[in-house]
Amino acid sequence: MPSQQNQNPRLIAAQDLLIWFHSNQIRFQRRNSFINPSDFGLYRYLVSSVIRNRNQYLFFIEDLTGRKLNKIDPEAIICLMLGISQLEPHMKVQQYAAVNETVGLLPALNKGFLKGFVNANLRSFIRQEVRLRESCQQQALAVQTSHPDWMVTRWQKKYGDFAAEQICHFNNLIPKVHIAINPKFERQVVLEELKHNNVKDLEELQNGWRVNNPSGIFNTESLRSGAFLVQDPSSQQLIELIAPLPKQSVLDVCAAPGGKLFHLEWAYHSEIELLIAIDNSTSRMHRLIENKRRIGSKSRIAVMDAKKPAINALFDLVVVDAPCSGTGTIQKHPEIKWNRQPSDFLINQKNQLEILAGVRDLVKPGGFLLYVTCSLEVEENHEVVDQFLQQNSAGYSHVPWQTDGVMQDSFTKEGFYMCLPDQHRMGMFAALLQKK
Ligand SMILES: C[S@@+](CC[C@H](N)C(=O)[O-])C[C@H]1O[C@@H](n2cnc3c(N)ncnc32)[C@H](O)[C@@H]1O
Repeated sequence: MPSQQNQNPRLIAAQDLLIWFHSNQIRFQRRNSFINPSDFGLYRYLVSSVIRNRNQYLFFIEDLTGRKLNKIDPEAIICLMLGISQLEPHMKVQQYAAVNETVGLLPALNKGFLKGFVNANLRSFIRQEVRLRESCQQQALAVQTSHPDWMVTRWQKKYGDFAAEQICHFNNLIPKVHIAINPKFERQVVLEELKHNNVKDLEELQNGWRVNNPSGIFNTESLRSGAFLVQDPSSQQLIELIAPLPKQSVLDVCAAPGGKLFHLEWAYHSEIELLIAIDNSTSRMHRLIENKRRIGSKSRIAVMDAKKPAINALFDLVVVDAPCSGTGTIQKHPEIKWNRQPSDFLINQKNQLEILAGVRDLVKPGGFLLYVTCSLEVEENHEVVDQFLQQNSAGYSHVPWQTDGVMQDSFTKEGFYMCLPDQHRMGMFAALLQKK
């Protein structure tokens, strides 16, 4: 946690990014580590922006300096990346301020002697920005859009060149926040409270709003009192898809921090009599408990391993929102680009199949098992379902979603729910399996 005094969000970003540069692992500071919410906003933007645009910024740096990256001090690389991220046109930071603030970080990183180098190259970036960006557009998609080569190649193979290019571009957009309104609250009252707190630029959606400038939203009475949930449209759509299923008793086995759980409870409160949520992570369960209190949920919860659930009941609906690579959520979590390996997907698949095996006997005959991931990878999606059905052919069958032409682009030909990331939605996969 950064010291509460003299917090400099740029310096904290530089320190965290240096660790990331060496390890590919980022530990974001928490919102409550910052006294001033706008400092957190700047910190989070800077770290995410550098991670999101890694290959592109490194391409600029090699071109500007005429040096290979391994011949440049990591502190200079990180400061150059931070400087470039502040010079992005949408940042509206004065150029001299972006350069001076960035150069000023070097003494605090014990690299004061690099001030001249960073200063000269950031000024050179300002002069050459147009040429550099045009030249980057001529590079391979992995450089242009800052993704690992292997990730681009596997999406090209699976989804084709055009879709892979779209995914890469959408992944780099700055994510918007989507909120769903708690039906117990008056929509207009929530709207007024948000506006009163300077939350601007809200676009009306069926169940809530798209918030284009979300910085103030986490500091509102509406959030504290559980008036809304941050919920991506692909999750909101999924909750609508389960409308026709029986839901008197529902078990959510990978539930924390509770986004789908609470949204499901809001949407179907008049049908649900028993709602149980488990998760094997104590820390994530703490977040679920906090959210449950805020939202006033009646769900019953326990920390438990879904592979060996100690539950003596049968349910109409069991939801498995499985742990996965999260490659559908790169827009929100750009670090996923750099901390995943191709070998992860089969490791995850084994884990996902073990969870499904753990809960398959908790579904009532005729009831449903809903398998969900936010992965774009076939190993974690179709292959898991195929293998589960092969292993349980006597007990389960796949129920394709009937689309009737509605939301056609959200379904595969096999009847799976499959959203690819776009301007407004994260990637998501879901399959509906029925117990015989
Ligand atoms: C994709 S997240 C769930 C998100 C949640 N459903 C929501 O909408 O907010 C996957 C969750 O699975 C949990 N998990 C991983 N392995 C598990 C296991 N063996 N048993 C129960 N939960 C598990 C993780 O702790 C994580 O919270």
